[in-house]
Amino acid sequence: MAGLRASEAGKLQIRQAIQARNWNITGEEPLKMTSQLLGSPPGIYANGVSETTWKRFVYAKRAIRRDTFEAYCNILGLDWTAIAELSEPQASRDDLSLMRLIPTFYGRTQELCDLKALLLNYRFVILYGLGGIGKTAVAVQLVEQVQTQFDRRIWRRFDHTLPIAQLLLDLLHTLSSSPQSFPSDPAMLVQLLLQDLGNSRTLIVLDEVNSGESNPANYQHFIYTLQELGQRQNQSCILLTTRERPADFTALMGGQAISYPLQGLDPESGCNILAHRQLIFEPAIGQQLVQKYRGNPLALELLCPIVRDLFQNQVESFLQNPGIYVPGRIEQVLRQQIQDLTEFEQLILRSLAHSDPLSRSELQDELNTGDFIQALYRLGRRSLIENVIENDDVLYTLQPMVMEFVRKHRL
Ligand SMILES: Nc1ncnc2c1ncn2[C@@H]1O[C@H](COP(=O)(O)OP(=O)(O)O)[C@@H](O)[C@H]1O
Ligand SMILES: [Mg+2]
Repeated sequence: MAGLRASEAGKLQIRQAIQARNWNITGEEPLKMTSQLLGSPPGIYANGVSETTWKRFVYAKRAIRRDTFEAYCNILGLDWTAIAELSEPQASRDDLSLMRLIPTFYGRTQELCDLKALLLNYRFVILYGLGGIGKTAVAVQLVEQVQTQFDRRIWRRFDHTLPIAQLLLDLLHTLSSSPQSFPSDPAMLVQLLLQDLGNSRTLIVLDEVNSGESNPANYQHFIYTLQELGQRQNQSCILLTTRERPADFTALMGGQAISYPLQGLDPESGCNILAHRQLIFEPAIGQQLVQKYRGNPLALELLCPIVRDLFQNQVESFLQNPGIYVPGRIEQVLRQQIQDLTEFEQLILRSLAHSDPLSRSELQDELNTGDFIQALYRLGRRSLIENVIENDDVLYTLQPMVMEFVRKHRL
């Protein structure tokens, strides 16, 4: 049991209460009264009651047992919750040591506002979007902005090579106040974690939960574990960032989970990234570049050295170049995401890469057979296709970087 000691203001109140009773600080009176209150026979001090603990209580030099602290407050007619120092031990219960620092951060006011509300109202929030779109950066800002809404905040980068029981154990060890041993049965671990999540408002961020990097059985096990963690209502929340929204997850979680798609940065914030890296441009030209890359901050960052070295920092000269340049790291992410797709899904990408936006029935005419609904749903979950609404019709297309990648690699 964690001990308690008085805060500075609490210490003052204790002194005043003792003076009001005309007690001697080192007298026997408080010890006798407290022991009586705790049910000890006359002449015997209760467990935890002693001159030493009383002095520790009065001078607040060290924490004492919680039950003794409460009893000492009681005999002085004080409310222990107003006397004890609560903020210090709680603040140190965060574990954000693995969270990345984001040196410069632009825009995202609306997204942060939406997400803050979601964290307080859902047990699971799934922040998803294409690689490099800024999921991790937004999650970091979010964690920093909700300090007062949660008692504890924990940040983990999801490790696909570890069995899920390891993740549960890691979280349990982090959440427990003293070293403990835990059972090895994963079902028991889930129950223990549920207890912890019920005891205090905890925010756990699992960053980079990308299914493609995991073996399918491990990933499925992870999703089942999340479903089990949704069994009981509590005030805690698990935030996942992922390139792929998990299939059917929110529907199965009975209103406890919500997905939030992260779109690109707004043009002005995108231009800030370019300006911060000394690129030269008129506002309209900068915005044109941001739009071409759909506000993907990673892509914009990676373009900057190229514009600097080959185009003398001039965005306009870079834009005069035909086609679209896809930076290597973005290609890497796209390759990983596209490898995961079925042949039919890749076929759809190929059709869209070589035509104007197409409706579902136009795609069906072109490709004849296949489960279009399933395929378009899966491609959408991975943010690989974009919807364009035209005269109440939904048309599908690829964003420019995906289109270029599919064309170049002749998928
Ligand atoms: N709002 C922002 N303002 C400035 N830079 C950003 C912003 N969002 C992301 N970045 C930068 O863009 C890069 C990609 O962001 P990141 O959060 O890692 O993307 P994701 O997690 O979606 O793959 C990082 O270098 C990050 O610092
Ligand atoms: Mg990330």
